[in-house]
Amino acid sequence: MSTYFTPGPSHLYPGVERFIADALRDGVMSVSHRSAAFSRIFDRAVDNLRTLMTIPQDYRIFFVGSASEAMERTIQNMAESRTHHFVNGAFSERFFLMARELGKQATETRAPWGKGFTRKQMTAVPEGVELVTFTHNETSTGVMLDLEGVYACKRAHPDALIALDVVSSAPMVPLDFAFLDCVFLSVQKALACPQVLA
Ligand SMILES: Cc1ncc(COP(=O)(O)O)c(C=O)c1O
Repeated sequence: MSTYFTPGPSHLYPGVERFIADALRDGVMSVSHRSAAFSRIFDRAVDNLRTLMTIPQDYRIFFVGSASEAMERTIQNMAESRTHHFVNGAFSERFFLMARELGKQATETRAPWGKGFTRKQMTAVPEGVELVTFTHNETSTGVMLDLEGVYACKRAHPDALIALDVVSSAPMVPLDFAFLDCVFLSVQKALACPQVLA
């Protein structure tokens, strides 16, 4: 097997082939999604993810089709009108443009591709903004933001909700959920699972 460095989908975790074979053998693919058996599988996935990422008990975990869908749901559910976005590459820009497409009054702090933001920039968010979005690791350029800057933004604007895209950094970087209201990731990056789930 060759080794390559791309934004993903990454090489599958070596156990995936066996996990899929076990699931087929145990009939998991034909379990009704309304059955108690499926609830047990679902609860186990939620519990394991909560443990892996130390997600507090009062945070809900949702499974959706992709991180792009998670972005859309975040914008739709966490802001009525005003959003602010830190844009420094393709994915953070997609977050910003999606908010505009969804009819939000979206503003941005922009940095050149390949650059990040100063702490001063990260705490300077227009007053009255409901949702602030950051892309922790901007996969299109490889720039990783300083999480302390994200947390400082929450401290400076406690009434704003903070959403953090951790698609290409989770679950490798510990997160402090005291300063985060929503995070999302896709399974095909550092989790090294088959794609099409976030
Ligand atoms: C930082 C970041 N956000 C969002 C996405 C979109 O993820 P998905 O392909 O699951 O929609 C990607 C995909 O590479 C990404 O790297």
